[in-house]
Amino acid sequence: MIACPTVLKAQTKIVKVNIDQSIAKVQPNMWGVFFEDINFGADGGIYAELIKNRSFEFTKPLMGWTVQRKKANEGEILVVNRADVNSTNPRYIQINNENGVFGITNEGFKGIGVKKGLKYNFSVMYRQLAAGVKLRLQLLDANNQVIGEGNLVPADTGNEWKKQSTSFTATQTDPKAKFAITFEGKGKIDLDMISLFPGDTWKNRPQGLRSDMVQLLADMKPGFIRFPGGCIVEGTDLANRYQWKNTIGPIEDRKLIINRWNTEFADRSAPDYFQSFGLGFFEYFQLAEDIGSDALPILNCGMACQFNSGEVAALDELDPYVQDALDLIEFANGDVSTKWGKKRADLGHPKPFNLKMMGVGNENWGPQYLERLAIFTKAIKAKYPDFKLINSSGTDPQGDRFNLLNTTLRENKADFIDEHYYRPADWFLKNAGRYDNYPRNDTKVFVGEYAVHADQSHVGSNRNNWQSALASASLMTGLERNADVVQMASYAPLFAHIDAWQWAPDMIWVDNLQSYGTPDYYVQKLFSTNKGTDVVSITLDGKNIIGQDGIYASSVIDSKKKELIIKISNSSDQPKTIDFDLEGKRKLQSKGTVEELTSSNLNQVNSFTNPEAVSPKISAIKIKDKKLNINLKPYSFNVFKIPFN
Ligand code: AHR
Repeated sequence: MIACPTVLKAQTKIVKVNIDQSIAKVQPNMWGVFFEDINFGADGGIYAELIKNRSFEFTKPLMGWTVQRKKANEGEILVVNRADVNSTNPRYIQINNENGVFGITNEGFKGIGVKKGLKYNFSVMYRQLAAGVKLRLQLLDANNQVIGEGNLVPADTGNEWKKQSTSFTATQTDPKAKFAITFEGKGKIDLDMISLFPGDTWKNRPQGLRSDMVQLLADMKPGFIRFPGGCIVEGTDLANRYQWKNTIGPIEDRKLIINRWNTEFADRSAPDYFQSFGLGFFEYFQLAEDIGSDALPILNCGMACQFNSGEVAALDELDPYVQDALDLIEFANGDVSTKWGKKRADLGHPKPFNLKMMGVGNENWGPQYLERLAIFTKAIKAKYPDFKLINSSGTDPQGDRFNLLNTTLRENKADFIDEHYYRPADWFLKNAGRYDNYPRNDTKVFVGEYAVHADQSHVGSNRNNWQSALASASLMTGLERNADVVQMASYAPLFAHIDAWQWAPDMIWVDNLQSYGTPDYYVQKLFSTNKGTDVVSITLDGKNIIGQDGIYASSVIDSKKKELIIKISNSSDQPKTIDFDLEGKRKLQSKGTVEELTSSNLNQVNSFTNPEAVSPKISAIKIKDKKLNINLKPYSFNVFKIPFN
């Protein structure tokens, strides 16, 4: 932001802001986040488990593990199937150590991130059939040097499964360590759920979440968390769909499934991508509560991904799916005397989570979606009339599929229609006025997934550069201006592991030890932390500001904090001189602030080495006689805040 000379230049724009008149309420949960276990966002990401394939349930049971031996001994390691064919935890390994020179090593998810001086918590389920085996536990660097070491001597013998834990401290930092277990002493032992967690999880919860990743979320103060997706809700077929009931309770009983992003894209194949559900629905509700967000679960509607199998549950066999939805509401909100409310209480949360809404279907479309949705809606509204339902409008924000759903769902008085757009920057700029003429009726819009994709491919050719974030910011001024219609929005996807992603761009990038926010992260954060309470009018020549000379703007007041907030982007390569006329009876203070996000290079990205290359810089502004004169830098997004009395 550059101080402006008092003499008006020819190109000065007079922008009028009417501070007194609220033209729409901003919902407190307007700006949220979309979480899906894609790009190793959960397993190998925010779920802090460091051991890959800890329970040997991957399709290849020893994937991620290598056996270390000096001399082969038949039967020294066996993968054993449990007798119960319906087991939620179908396999374990049996170690029969006769030579005393035998071990197994886990490679982690693209290596194991280890921090010097940090405690590591190891646990294992075991059944010691012939006592005598001791477990030596070692973190190893790339040269097989020990960088952390502990021991576990199984305390019990017999046929019962036991769980035992121990901790040790790392002596070096290494982003790509391995974890070795050496079996010392003769004996026979069954092992399962071999687990290692860093000692610095979010809120120090045992077997919890990566705190740096949660902190980035918490800093955004998101209004809601959409979870668990995304296509993961649908599954490639119905057997592979997300079923929330399989994600709660003891982790060893959360049946692992193939992650549907596993081999979805041949060019980004990840055959070692599975869902352990260590971050399950209880942890999700808890996370939302921790960071002050509403939960917004999306449930399968009896249809698998229509890009894959398109498998559907027959209409007369939809009951279990509908029951899952009803039971989830009871699990979240039910009294402890109810079946599912009691389960929540037993997991340590007697207080309800106050769930207010749910999506039925992710990106489903067509008459078969409408038929199934009608059944869900009838059942859910009959039991919970005020509960809000989010309906899908398919994968695209235009076209025949969209039109059918948009028209029918509005006729049906849907609470919310979920729009998704992954489009080039230019589309975002052209659509900043998209909602200005939307119907102002009962049905609201949830922009549930959006991101600038330079070439409309799942692997966008840009990695959240400044151009994509600036275009998002410009469009978002249009969402904010229409906050009476667009009541929620979430950028997608949220997380990506630098060595394991399937889909780009993404808002936050991580490796095994670090994480950083992209320029898009900062745009989202600026909106979310400056959401205000009421939209007020901001115009140029009496019109909404939707790209005149490259400028996009919206304005809100925060009636609680007593602030006027103006968001304005300059998408052009020229500076712009703006004179704001701040009209209204409220008495504005003479000093305010501006947070400016800018780069002269549209291709600028943030990175592990330069995580804040594009990040907000704050400076002071002066207001005189209800006027604010400023110069907007080329390619900039600016948030002005002016307190009032
Ligand atoms: O955000 C990535 C994917 O994009 C989601 O899983 C899906 O809903 C959409 O197609």
